[in-house]
Amino acid sequence: MRTVHSLKELRTILRGYRRQGKTIGLVPTMGNLHEGHISLVRKAAEAADIVVTSIFVNPMQFGAGEDLESYPRTLAEDQEQLEAAGNTLVFAPTASEVYPDGLAQQTQVIVPDVSDGHCGASRPGHFEGVATVVSMLFNMVQPDFAVFGEKDFQQLAVIRKMVRDLMVPVEVVGAPTIRETDGLAKSSRNGYLSPAERKVAPVVYRTLRETAEKIEEGHPDLQALEQDATAKLSKAGLRPDYFNIVNSRTLKPATPEDSDITLLVAAFLGTTRLIDNLSITR
Ligand code: PAF
Repeated sequence: MRTVHSLKELRTILRGYRRQGKTIGLVPTMGNLHEGHISLVRKAAEAADIVVTSIFVNPMQFGAGEDLESYPRTLAEDQEQLEAAGNTLVFAPTASEVYPDGLAQQTQVIVPDVSDGHCGASRPGHFEGVATVVSMLFNMVQPDFAVFGEKDFQQLAVIRKMVRDLMVPVEVVGAPTIRETDGLAKSSRNGYLSPAERKVAPVVYRTLRETAEKIEEGHPDLQALEQDATAKLSKAGLRPDYFNIVNSRTLKPATPEDSDITLLVAAFLGTTRLIDNLSITR
């Protein structure tokens, strides 16, 4: 497995593979890899001859006061895990390689509608940062397909719309959330939790499941369910950002008639912002 830091080197290597008729799968990440990321790499390796994993902590998607500086950077450990998972090439560019003119001068990709609300409301500019860097990674790697985790449900919706609207010739593949045995969704940010917070954290998924069960049983008042879930998280010591029950396709508030419903949650536990979701089909 090779690691390259420059776009020039990346393009030279990929040109060779493409000339040999190899298919290329991309797994975009910000590094500090866990089993969730590795499952994306394995999925890509099942379908592609060549798997490129990008590791780039993208400054454009972090807001003021967020964890850009403290975000864990663990390239050596990441490389070991990727090698074992069947990854071919790691692309780990610097910020100046990706944004040579600086962030302020960077052309941006704005994906309307699905970027609004939920995390988009709480983190202004976040999805513009994600859509911009993902479209750049697509242009840099020119993969046949790219794999993203369903844990970031709204992000996946934003990327799917971006690809559709801009007619990007890359297939977007979603992969299921990987969880700890107590239900907590695997996330690089779980490492920020203190032992006491880690014990409390599974309440997020528990609340998603209990609320989903009530919807499946035919509970008619979805707003009341959102309020109950929020209260439950607060009682457990979290600071809920939102708990929204939405139509899985539009991400707009669900109606009891919707057949595809997703429960989206974000909540702070101490200073750590956890997100999770659960989809049901009726
Ligand atoms: O999900 C992530 O880790 C990031 O948002 C992504 C897709 C790699 C873009 O920076």
